[in-house]
Amino acid sequence: MPGADHLVICFSQPSLSARDEARFRAALDLAARKTFGPAISVVRLEGAGTGLVAAMRDARDTGAQHLRIMPVGFPMAANIRAWLPGAIAHFAATEGGDMRIDLADLCNIEDAAQALVALSTTADAQDMQAVRPSLGKPGWQFLPDFDTHILVCTGPRCAFRGAGTLHAQLKARLAKAGLSDRCMTTTTGCLFPCNQGPLLVLYPQGAWYHVPDQDALDRIVCDVIAQGGDAPDLRLSERPGRRRDMSHTKIERIT
Ligand code: FES
Repeated sequence: MPGADHLVICFSQPSLSARDEARFRAALDLAARKTFGPAISVVRLEGAGTGLVAAMRDARDTGAQHLRIMPVGFPMAANIRAWLPGAIAHFAATEGGDMRIDLADLCNIEDAAQALVALSTTADAQDMQAVRPSLGKPGWQFLPDFDTHILVCTGPRCAFRGAGTLHAQLKARLAKAGLSDRCMTTTTGCLFPCNQGPLLVLYPQGAWYHVPDQDALDRIVCDVIAQGGDAPDLRLSERPGRRRDMSHTKIERIT
């Protein structure tokens, strides 16, 4: 890695338990330290926690001259590969100062596939005859009891725009308002209007809100969820003509 004095490894994995994420972070950090001496950060592109922007700011603020970004995915999704260079360039242009930033090209799907297959042929194996057959736990047939379902986007582009702490902040705010057991919160991958992130969606209202800061979150919890009102300046507007009246549409059953 000639010249780079700071390395940020950013991995992408939409579905990962906290335990596995910690293990993966540690493994990436250990692997990087074997070949790269200077400062290293490991961040995930989705979900909660310190994201890529915070890591780049940290590198800049600690005096990095040349920052190398190393994407890791098995494989990295095509839409992230397409989006990531522009987003990093946007940071470089707006906040990067004199720090040089480059992006490693480690998205070789063939190499990753070969490495994984080679690993799996030597890995321990579990005999399925020794496992109790099951499609799910007994309680999983019941619907959860709640009034409002809140979807919180923690996709890579919302995370880049600061959504890393949104779900935790929302849960804390709902608890403070005494609404925890009336609201179900779900983190999601990309919901599509990424340019308006961070965002959340309320159902059954079907209302989408931009959540730029804690004050906006407070208003959504207090004015919209608790009081049944609205926060019009935070609400994302629909594309004109998007909804079609389906009530008179005759759709024939296939079977
Ligand atoms: S990443 Fe949140 S809407 Fe796309």
